[in-house]
Amino acid sequence: MKHENRVVFVTGAGQGMGKAIVERFVAEGALVAAVDINQQAAQAVADSCGAGLDGTRVIGLACDVSDSSSVRDAMAEVERQFGRLDIVVNNAGIGSVDAFVDTPDENWNRVIGVNLTGTFLCCREGARLMQKNGSGIIINVSSSAVMSGEGPSHYCASKAGVIGLTRSIARELASSGIRVNTLVPGPTNTPMMADIPEDWMEQMVNAIPLGRMCEPDEVARVASFIASEEASFITGQNIAVNGGMVFL
Ligand SMILES: NC(=O)c1ccc[n+]([C@@H]2O[C@H](COP(=O)([O-])OP(=O)(O)OC[C@H]3O[C@@H](n4cnc5c(N)ncnc54)[C@H](O)[C@@H]3O)[C@@H](O)[C@H]2O)c1
Repeated sequence: MKHENRVVFVTGAGQGMGKAIVERFVAEGALVAAVDINQQAAQAVADSCGAGLDGTRVIGLACDVSDSSSVRDAMAEVERQFGRLDIVVNNAGIGSVDAFVDTPDENWNRVIGVNLTGTFLCCREGARLMQKNGSGIIINVSSSAVMSGEGPSHYCASKAGVIGLTRSIARELASSGIRVNTLVPGPTNTPMMADIPEDWMEQMVNAIPLGRMCEPDEVARVASFIASEEASFITGQNIAVNGGMVFL
């Protein structure tokens, strides 16, 4: 069991990649907080993973990552229930289909608020807890849209910001024994993709040398690797999972 009894905080865990990441870590022995703004979805994922003998291997937590007090409360609950924190996966993310010149301030602020500020808040609160153990791992989820530019401005800007945030804190937190990396998926088969127009989707898949979209567990397996001892000397890096669509 690669992650036996390690405590993992996964955001955006109610569906898609986050759900797959929760399932992967649970299968590998971890204790997991499945965190989502949608409490019912988070709880459903926790329930579907099945409880261990002690009944508390996976908890579903409601949390809006863009709200600092909500993040603090969720982290405090994890510490209360599991006593420590080892791994944070900042997977929660949103998009919004806006042409650049028509982008409302509100949509810009919402996308940056969840994707970038939310990642910052969970990194900061997570690192504070990890510093108590003298070790930890943070995985921030960006997107290949940063490299290709194929995405709305707020989305690409927020996901580029995640890469800069990761690099800065990877340097700063290294002395606390905390590794921080960015996972950079390409187009992946999740509910988020349901809103993408069909012709845009077809174009995207045609641009992937491996000829298909990524499946959520393919991202989850890489998250598990980054969090494992096998990746013990990897920090501050972009780790791409995109079927060859762009090269970092
Ligand atoms: N699907 C793709 O093709 C793709 C590609 C590259 C990167 N990504 C990134 O991967 C991550 C996961 O994507 P997905 O496709 O699984 O998305 P999804 O839309 O299927 O799921 C996102 C989850 O995040 C939750 N969420 C939204 N706002 C939140 C908030 N404020 N606080 C807490 N939870 C919140 C949602 O309720 C949902 O359960 C996102 O960061 C996304 O930007 C996705």
